[in-house]
Amino acid sequence: MFNHKSASLVALAGAADLASAALYDSIIQTGSGPVQGFAAFNSTPYGVNIQNWQDVAVWKGIPYGASTAGNNRWRPPQTPEPWNTTLIADSYGPVCPGESTSYTSDEDCLRINVWSAATSADDALPVMVWNHPAGGSNQDPLFDGAGMAAAGVVFINSNRRDGVLGWLAHPELSEERLATIGVNSSGNYGMLDEFAVLDWAIQNVAAFGGDPKRINIAGQSAGSAAAYHAVNSPLTKGKIVGAIAESGVRDPRDPLAHSLAENYVSLASNLAQGVEYMAANNVSSIAELRAIPIADLLDADGTSGSFGSTSYSWSATLDNYTIAHKYIDQLALGPANDVPFMTGNTKDESGATYGLEMTEAEYLSDFNTTFGNLSAEAEALWAPSDWTNETVIGGAYNALWRDTSLVSSWGYSQGWASSAESPIYTYYWDHAPPGQDRGAYHESEINYVLNNLYGTDLPWETVDYEIAQKMNAYWANFAKTGNPNRGGSYSGNETLVQYDATSSDRIVMHVGNGWGMVPLTQFDNQTDFILEYFSLQTPV
Ligand SMILES: *[C@@H]1O[C@H](CO)[C@@H](O)[C@H](O)[C@H]1NC(C)=O
Ligand SMILES: *[C@@H]1O[C@H](CO)[C@@H](O)[C@H](O)[C@H]1NC(C)=O
Ligand SMILES: *[C@@H]1O[C@H](CO)[C@@H](O)[C@H](O)[C@H]1NC(C)=O
Ligand SMILES: *[C@@H]1O[C@H](CO)[C@@H](O)[C@H](O)[C@H]1NC(C)=O
Ligand SMILES: *[C@@H]1O[C@H](CO)[C@@H](O)[C@H](O)[C@H]1NC(C)=O
Ligand SMILES: *[C@@H]1O[C@H](CO)[C@@H](O)[C@H](O)[C@H]1NC(C)=O
Ligand SMILES: *[C@@H]1O[C@H](CO)[C@@H](O)[C@H](O)[C@H]1NC(C)=O
Ligand SMILES: *[C@@H]1O[C@H](CO)[C@@H](O)[C@H](O)[C@H]1NC(C)=O
Ligand SMILES: *[C@@H]1O[C@H](CO)[C@@H](O)[C@H](O)[C@H]1NC(C)=O
Repeated sequence: MFNHKSASLVALAGAADLASAALYDSIIQTGSGPVQGFAAFNSTPYGVNIQNWQDVAVWKGIPYGASTAGNNRWRPPQTPEPWNTTLIADSYGPVCPGESTSYTSDEDCLRINVWSAATSADDALPVMVWNHPAGGSNQDPLFDGAGMAAAGVVFINSNRRDGVLGWLAHPELSEERLATIGVNSSGNYGMLDEFAVLDWAIQNVAAFGGDPKRINIAGQSAGSAAAYHAVNSPLTKGKIVGAIAESGVRDPRDPLAHSLAENYVSLASNLAQGVEYMAANNVSSIAELRAIPIADLLDADGTSGSFGSTSYSWSATLDNYTIAHKYIDQLALGPANDVPFMTGNTKDESGATYGLEMTEAEYLSDFNTTFGNLSAEAEALWAPSDWTNETVIGGAYNALWRDTSLVSSWGYSQGWASSAESPIYTYYWDHAPPGQDRGAYHESEINYVLNNLYGTDLPWETVDYEIAQKMNAYWANFAKTGNPNRGGSYSGNETLVQYDATSSDRIVMHVGNGWGMVPLTQFDNQTDFILEYFSLQTPV
């Protein structure tokens, strides 16, 4: 459906008529009101092989929920106020308080952005709903979706409540939930925001050229938790066809599973924290807490604008609602959504630090703290080749933590295979972006998988563009077919190396500086040891 203006543009444009069919030329009706998008690129982005750049449309700042201020604070996301005048979707909305501090925040923050290269609303392209890490926001250039859209996947990213606004639990809030839906728990409002984006996509994405029956959820770090929970939650059953959890899902017996992205706390402990929090704000009801201006709430948290460094620990609650089962039980029971799943790790995260130097005493003390009476065995398995060289000692220490991440995600895959039919794919990313000194850091794969190097100011080289083409192809293929190898997304010169589903073989897909299935650890006895160590821990 073309409006009058675009019809005359088509007549004038002549040779550029490929672009004339792009969806930014039409006004799109969403369930809440009409929106007008615009062209994501005005020329082909440097270094990125995007043939169809003229087709990529973007809509920024579309509300998927009402303001979360006042009475909507600590409530599930509510339907946005409808609008009649076309929303010119050319600017990102504010971020939620508790997300990135780099942008203006406001409690009226439930916004999504959509990128689509569809040339007709009938294209029915696969969809990827992307969830950002903690401290991010949907307007970070790192999460720009035009590169993924160009590969034929409608890309949606979103803001969500975080910090106390996203995760507070309190007995009074539990009473509210009990009164409204009969469930005696509270918390996880940020997760309900994440799930509401899936509902928005189901209801609206067809008009953007997407297929509501082919929605994938993806994300990194805290965003990987969104993907993990959507796979397992009864609330999202039947809503997704695939999930990608980058950095990443771990073995429930891995101690890091208690603290990394997918962690949660018990309802009892989060309720207790909520009671403490209310008292510290000198009020005695949720109504009063809802009436406190957001700026004062942020100040009271002692973090001037960010909830990140608060003395409270805001995280997901095992609420028997959004999260139905403990991590280990869920793995045994099988997922709510038995869909292809992908997860993995980067080289310099979760205990491994690029360029680490360490003394012998530091190494021994750390191994002792971590492994107790197993430390002698661990030291023998990850022994530095030179005890006088602190770089070599740091390297041996990093190898332990990298191996632990790989064995941990593989361990999860073994649990998955015991109860799910769908394949699980694991990866190990080791390419360090140029112009920085943190190696293949946490988040470093994101620019590549989204093929959006153009939006981030690093001295990208030819090799980075080539790696991005491959990474993006695996991810886009996965969104299209549930298999990273199939879908025809790769347009580079080489052959895309086969990315095998994870099996009982102790192997992982190496991506970045090399490609192909590689052993989890150098020696089998290292994997044996990590599994033995996990088996002695209390699972999540
Ligand atoms: C939109 O139009 C409907 C029907 O004409 C009207 O009831 C409603 O108040 C309008 N909403 C706004 C926000 O203008
Ligand atoms: C709801 O759960 C709380 C503990 O979380 C408990 O004290 C209370 O009795 C429960 N209410 C009902 C109606 O079951
Ligand atoms: C609550 O009251 C105490 C004691 O008067 C005061 O020190 C504290 O700053 C108050 N907290 C807030 C958030 O107003
Ligand atoms: C979880 O909720 C179900 C009902 O949805 C209830 O039967 C069950 O007892 C609850 N479990 C816990 C641990 O509260
Ligand atoms: C390891 O820790 C234990 C208990 O904290 C301590 O007694 C022992 O001396 C430590 N050993 C080394 C080698 O640091
Ligand atoms: C090692 O320590 C654990 C507790 O930390 C204990 O249960 C176990 O028996 C110890 N094993 C040996 C061989 O001493
Ligand atoms: C682990 O296995 C390798 C390869 O078999 C072997 O060379 C090494 O000595 C073993 N390490 C230990 C501590 O057993
Ligand atoms: C320490 O090891 C690193 C890495 O192998 C090497 O580059 C460096 O020259 C070594 N330093 C010394 C003083 O031997
Ligand atoms: C394809 O290969 C040629 C020659 O090796 C190289 O110059 C070119 O940059 C490659 N193109 C892409 C898109 O990778």
